[in-house]
Amino acid sequence: MPALLRPIVDRQLQPSSCAVVLILKLAAQHPRLHQLPQTKQLKALMTIIRDQTTPRGDFVFYSDRVIRLLVEEGLNHLPVVNKEVITPMGMPFQGVSFEGRICGVSIMRAGESMEQGLRDVCTSVRIGKVLIQRDESTAQAKMYYSKLPKDISNRWVLLLDPMLATGGSAVKCIETLLEAGVKEDRILFINLICSPEGVLAMLEQFPKLQIITAEIDESMDVQKYILPGLGDFGDRYFGTED
Ligand code: PRP
Ligand code: URA
Repeated sequence: MPALLRPIVDRQLQPSSCAVVLILKLAAQHPRLHQLPQTKQLKALMTIIRDQTTPRGDFVFYSDRVIRLLVEEGLNHLPVVNKEVITPMGMPFQGVSFEGRICGVSIMRAGESMEQGLRDVCTSVRIGKVLIQRDESTAQAKMYYSKLPKDISNRWVLLLDPMLATGGSAVKCIETLLEAGVKEDRILFINLICSPEGVLAMLEQFPKLQIITAEIDESMDVQKYILPGLGDFGDRYFGTED
């Protein structure tokens, strides 16, 4: 865990506004953390999905819009090679093409909400699944199941999970990917909202991992829900809230 955060996390303190500003600054400047451009459009979309009065249909629609932006940003971080094509005007054009092959891996269940956004931009993309659930009372992540593309070790992996809180679920998933032979520097973790503790701990534990996110929040509550957050993403997206 980053030294800066230890006093806050160990003593379960709500960080002061001064600490929050410092943490957010540290996170935002990290070279392997790519935050979506903080446009007014993104702010408006995030405001809708964070609003507790937003009905499920709108939550799904506007989450899908942010997911699309995140997936597009993820593709910006894949390597390309030079490629020349000839246009219908008979002229050469010096362009690029993607260098490697990709796949998605979603952390069930909330991560499954991001699969369509990936399919919309990468036709017939292969998608692996990992079922990891947090224990509701301890917030400890437990791994139940994984099924990954057989040739995953030769691919770039877009890891899909909308919420990064303690990082327990993402850590377990990345360990599974590494055991399957995926190179750490070929993993792009795509998520909507991070806690500052989670994002910094992940970047420290995996020194080649890249993270693409929409917003970094202020802290977590005692049950390790992100604050201000948006509540339980899976429950709101799949309609299983009380
Ligand atoms: C949520 C979320 C992440 C995890 C984040 O899943 O989708 O996978 O919690 O928390 P962490 O960073 O502290 O591990 P959850 O286990 O609640 O399951 P769900 O997808 O079925 O809602
Ligand atoms: N999972 C969620 O869905 N929301 C949180 O705030 C934390 C974990």
